[in-house]
Amino acid sequence: MRVVLSLGTGTLLLVAMLKPPAIPQAGPLGQPKSPKQVGAPADATRAAIPFDNPQTPEKIALGQKLFFDGRLSADGTVACSTCHNPARAFTDGRPTSVGINGRIGQRNAPTILNALYNKTQFWDGRVKTLEEQAALPIVNPVEMGQPSLDAAVARIAAIPEYQDAFRKVFGAPPNARDLLRAIASYEGTQLSFDAPFDHFIAGDQNAIDDAAKRGWELFNTRARCNKCHALSEQKRDATYFTDNDFHNIGIGIIRHNVVALARQAEQAIKSGDTSQIDRAALQTDMSALGRFLITRSARDIAAFKTPGLRNVLVTGPYFHDGSQETLWDVMDHYNKGDGLQNPYLDEDIQPLALTEGDIDDVVAFLASLTSADYKAQGIKELARQRELSRTNRPQRDTARAFGPKPQQPKPQRP
Ligand code: HEC
Ligand code: HEC
Repeated sequence: MRVVLSLGTGTLLLVAMLKPPAIPQAGPLGQPKSPKQVGAPADATRAAIPFDNPQTPEKIALGQKLFFDGRLSADGTVACSTCHNPARAFTDGRPTSVGINGRIGQRNAPTILNALYNKTQFWDGRVKTLEEQAALPIVNPVEMGQPSLDAAVARIAAIPEYQDAFRKVFGAPPNARDLLRAIASYEGTQLSFDAPFDHFIAGDQNAIDDAAKRGWELFNTRARCNKCHALSEQKRDATYFTDNDFHNIGIGIIRHNVVALARQAEQAIKSGDTSQIDRAALQTDMSALGRFLITRSARDIAAFKTPGLRNVLVTGPYFHDGSQETLWDVMDHYNKGDGLQNPYLDEDIQPLALTEGDIDDVVAFLASLTSADYKAQGIKELARQRELSRTNRPQRDTARAFGPKPQQPKPQRP
């Protein structure tokens, strides 16, 4: 440091920029949550915990310690919480995440809140369980950068308090399988319900305002959100807001020649090689291919997982590439539909003819999905987004929103 100081302010600035941010600590918002929250699905919560990895308070505490510990990364500077910060509803607030040595990835960090209910993990669902998921960021070169999972384990195994904790919880010294199980156990405690909307569904008519009530109606009718953000189209889903499926909704597709990328992926990536897919998804343009990287099926080109929408107000920016700043931008995207340029677009995306009032109402509904824990942040964030949306609506295209559904081009064989 002293050497750097003598080199002058330019160098000092550079060093300050390269210095990673302090690792976020758990704080009150990072503690294990009660499963008895208004709106929480008791049976599904029990069912989401794998029978071969039962939760105990000691295991959860060990997982929590690991989740916030930079020593899991190659140079000690990056923890899970760097990108999944409880103060930001377990996201990082960036369009795409920044890992060790300031390396920027291709994808937006989803929240860990309620991730235990996910049928698959990651935007493209490349793994199923939280246990499998936790292994990948540790060794990804733009995230925590360890040369191998064993290298991370060796680092942890050299720390006496971890030796003790692993022995107490698992009856064995630190090892990869148990390390992942402990982290997953902690994540499995991050339930987030108790939003104004949950109180409304539970019978309190005053829990949300009229705009949010109209927004909930629109969500299930004219705005067509329930086509994907609901467990089924037959019944209203007030819990998960996802069909656990993958769709191409036209995000980022204009910037990429997906057919050429699909050919490249077929050459470059071994089918089913999860760690190769992980690198392609976070480090290359092939990221835009989404679910195709896993299934190699043309219908999955640029298809991404439907995210649940709880706490969405405080987990921006939006979409797998963090390309949209506000919920108004998200609504403008859906309202105009998309189609002309994108043969793989989901058939449920079409012009919606929503008025400005309708859009405000759906945003009010989405805001009502903010858990009590994030109430204060939500109020501030809604004001910020509303202010921005008054002057800047880059996605708005009223003519298309109220126009006919455009003819879609036929898919090319990749
Ligand atoms: C450098 C930032 C970064 C770090 C460090 C990081 N993550 Fe992530 N995390 C991401 C990004 C970005 C994604 C989405 C990647 C994708 O879908 O391709 C993600 C996805 C996830 C998901 C899937 C959630 C969902 O809804 O699909 C979970 C769970 C998760 N991370 C947990 C962890 C754990 C546990 C650690 C530490 C072992 C960790 N992350 C470290 C950025 C990070
Ligand atoms: C055809 C299926 C489909 C329909 C219809 C749909 N969505 Fe989505 N939604 C998705 C998928 C898939 C993503 C992720 C896409 C991506 O990132 O590339 C997404 C992402 C989002 C996001 C961003 C969430 C985040 O964490 O970044 C919001 C907000 C959202 N949708 C709200 C809505 C609303 C409101 C409607 C109705 C106006 C709607 N969606 C209609 C499938 C759909």
